[in-house]
Amino acid sequence: VGRRLICSVAAETLPKQAEELKMDAPKEIFLKDYKKPDYYFDTVALKFLLDEEKTFVFSKIVVFPRVEGSSSPLVLNGQDLKLIAIKVNGKELMEGEFHLGPRYLTIPSPPSCTFTLEITTEIYPQNNTSLEGLYKTSGNFCTQCEAEGFRKITFYQDRPDIMAKYTVRIEADKSRYPVLLSNGNLIDQGGLEGGKHFVVWEDPFKKPSYLFALVAGKLESRNDSFITRSGRKVSLRIWTPAQDLPKTEHAMYSLKAAMKWDEDVFGLEYDLDLFNIVAVPDFNMGAMENKSLNIFNSKLVLASPETATDADYAAILGVIGHEYFHNWTGNRVTCRDWFQLSLKEGLTVFRDQEFSSDMGSRTVKRIADVSKLRNYQFPQDSGPMAHPVRPHSYIKMDNFYTGKSLYSLLVYEKGAEVVRMYKTLLGSQGFRKGMDLYFKRHDGQAVTCEDFFAAMRDANDADFANFLLWYSQAGTPIVKVTSSYDAKAQTFSLKFSQEVPPTPGQPVKEPMFIPVAVGLLDSSGKDMPLSSLYHDGKLQSLTSNGQQVCTTVLRVTKKEEEFVFSDVPKSPVVSLLRGYSAPIRLESDLSDNDLFFLLAHDSDEFNRWEAGQVLARKLMLNLVVDFQQNKPLVLNPEFVNGIRSILLDSNLDKEFMAKAISLPGEGEIMDLMEVADPDAVHAVRTFIRKELALELKNEFLLKVKENRSSEQYEFNHHNMARRTLKSTALAYLASLNDPEFTELALQEYKAATNMTEQIAAVAAIAQNPGKTRNDALTDFYNKWQHDFLVVTKWFTLQAMSDIPGNVENVRQLLNHQAFDIRNPNKHSILPTGRPGSLIDYMVNAIPGSPP
Ligand code: PHE
Ligand code: ZN
Repeated sequence: VGRRLICSVAAETLPKQAEELKMDAPKEIFLKDYKKPDYYFDTVALKFLLDEEKTFVFSKIVVFPRVEGSSSPLVLNGQDLKLIAIKVNGKELMEGEFHLGPRYLTIPSPPSCTFTLEITTEIYPQNNTSLEGLYKTSGNFCTQCEAEGFRKITFYQDRPDIMAKYTVRIEADKSRYPVLLSNGNLIDQGGLEGGKHFVVWEDPFKKPSYLFALVAGKLESRNDSFITRSGRKVSLRIWTPAQDLPKTEHAMYSLKAAMKWDEDVFGLEYDLDLFNIVAVPDFNMGAMENKSLNIFNSKLVLASPETATDADYAAILGVIGHEYFHNWTGNRVTCRDWFQLSLKEGLTVFRDQEFSSDMGSRTVKRIADVSKLRNYQFPQDSGPMAHPVRPHSYIKMDNFYTGKSLYSLLVYEKGAEVVRMYKTLLGSQGFRKGMDLYFKRHDGQAVTCEDFFAAMRDANDADFANFLLWYSQAGTPIVKVTSSYDAKAQTFSLKFSQEVPPTPGQPVKEPMFIPVAVGLLDSSGKDMPLSSLYHDGKLQSLTSNGQQVCTTVLRVTKKEEEFVFSDVPKSPVVSLLRGYSAPIRLESDLSDNDLFFLLAHDSDEFNRWEAGQVLARKLMLNLVVDFQQNKPLVLNPEFVNGIRSILLDSNLDKEFMAKAISLPGEGEIMDLMEVADPDAVHAVRTFIRKELALELKNEFLLKVKENRSSEQYEFNHHNMARRTLKSTALAYLASLNDPEFTELALQEYKAATNMTEQIAAVAAIAQNPGKTRNDALTDFYNKWQHDFLVVTKWFTLQAMSDIPGNVENVRQLLNHQAFDIRNPNKHSILPTGRPGSLIDYMVNAIPGSPP
């Protein structure tokens, strides 16, 4: 969608040879076939003459062979380029001295020692609708080079293990393009004849071509600065069209918070004197970490309380952090090849998750991330698209539109879980030691996942057994646990068995290395101190330096395995997989009573929530069967009581409370079924929500009343938590379609002073078809039709709706005057700087719907 194949100009100008034809056909690329490049690039000088009809790109590269004296051909990537001239050591190449195909430019016998290569190309950014390479968006020039967009700008060895120093000169019309940006430091600028001007940028750090960026246009900046811990002053600029500048305050706050956090937690300081962020309306993904010139989808930069929700604010914080953190994990140390994508993405997602946790509530953030994993990543990992965190092969890596992409949740989110496991195994300090060693060894290099693994291992002298299987085996491991207490011996035993289900191309799997964090609760709900553990024929003390320990990490590595805790005076209730210590499916023999007990008492807050979710999942799956067998649906009163006791527990964090009273998503339940039955799951989920609303009317009403805004909008955990709880309660009440509560929701809608509460109220009303719904949606549209990002929410809300006949409604929306299929924001993906889906966005974007 929105992509147009531009026929390669080069293809028409030169006859193709059979050899090249073969080379040019898209083919499967294998990890095992990686070869070092025969030539490296030292420095790259680029000159851009930007213009409306054609843009000239001059490049001058200092090339040196990897092995002095070798005589291999130099093969450059290039797509949709018109070659104007090519010179080696200042001398123009003649026919026969190079070959040009539609996707490659080959110099069969270049000099065998260092030489300069000069290439002039002509490109047409104004016709480039691929959102890759150099393109125009709202009248401005902008680039996107990851993964293979640089080859649409000039001929180059467009692969991440080619790291070079860039100097970039840009010339353009001064009135149309007053701002000219690229990576690094601005070292020169001035006027030119004919109303033009120029700038020169120099990036002192070596970088792969995918981190190159250029922006030219009419933009203004919010300016601020940050003093690094070693006392250097960094200028910070966020660029947007003038009218959007007021909406960049939160983005600037987020950037400064991220810079500080990376210093505090990882000792990582920013390395240049300038950091730029540009917001553009047309962008394929969430954002891009180009060296010192991050480019963002505007919805991840612009926010005001009136137009953005808490979820938008949180997403901006997380993604600004994510792109900033890439400066070290991705840019300073980059990927050897695209198979290693998770090296930078898994690690950087992990870092942004930790950052958001530290800025808000750790438990709530973990709950949100795990829900996302279960609803979206698990299905991917058990479906036809399953692939390992580091795939063995790919054909086209960035087909964002079909979902067949390396840019998948498996690389990003599962990759982050893999990084998290290192930390779980090594502890915070050990993990930090590993990170320090990783940078010490690999700064300025393009490396692999094994290099990261080795740094973690070597810095800690750790035994990681077969941990690397997490990178190569696809599928979510299923771990079964049974427990037994021996009163006489005072021992408590946990028996594990694990199995990794077959996935496409991987019918048989080996057992994985699974860290399982465990604690034991006594009958009053308190953690028991753990004294020693018997495993593999050895007795191991669990006290560390005389200190009592209440959580220990079991290292499950075999197909079947037993761990026995000794000196356990009374039969405990076990809290398994605390903090969700590994991305697995856990099946335990905990009874409903145990689960209710954990829900009420576990010191691990994540597991309190989890116990409620396990109960809800069981309940929902049972009701699905009843539904399928046409039995009447009845809600277990125990469950209602469990939810009630959460609502009445005034010690609980309000955002945690909102999460704990929300049911597992439909995707999550479907993922657990042998044969997915969307109608049944939907009916059951709706039924439970309404039953809960009916039974807990008063409690929900109280939550709405108690949590109304009394203050100005502020993005902080306390206020956000209050709004989330109110919206969740309101959605429950409005689901009843009772005039009293519909009226309540309408009042909340009218009284709302921020987008968070306003759209939550519309969403609550929109659960039920009818005039009130239509009026509210019309009113909302009329209010916000001038604001593209808010209108996007309005579309999303309706696209997500489950009212009867919604398909027709959505069909009509496709013809709506405000709908533009070419803008990826409106029909697909990616609020989070990384892959995702519209649904994903919706669930995050509109609080309280559907809880
Ligand atoms: N590297 C970007 C990120 O994770 C995502 C991205 C990939 C953006 C490919 C554009 C193209 O932050
Ligand atoms: Zn990233």
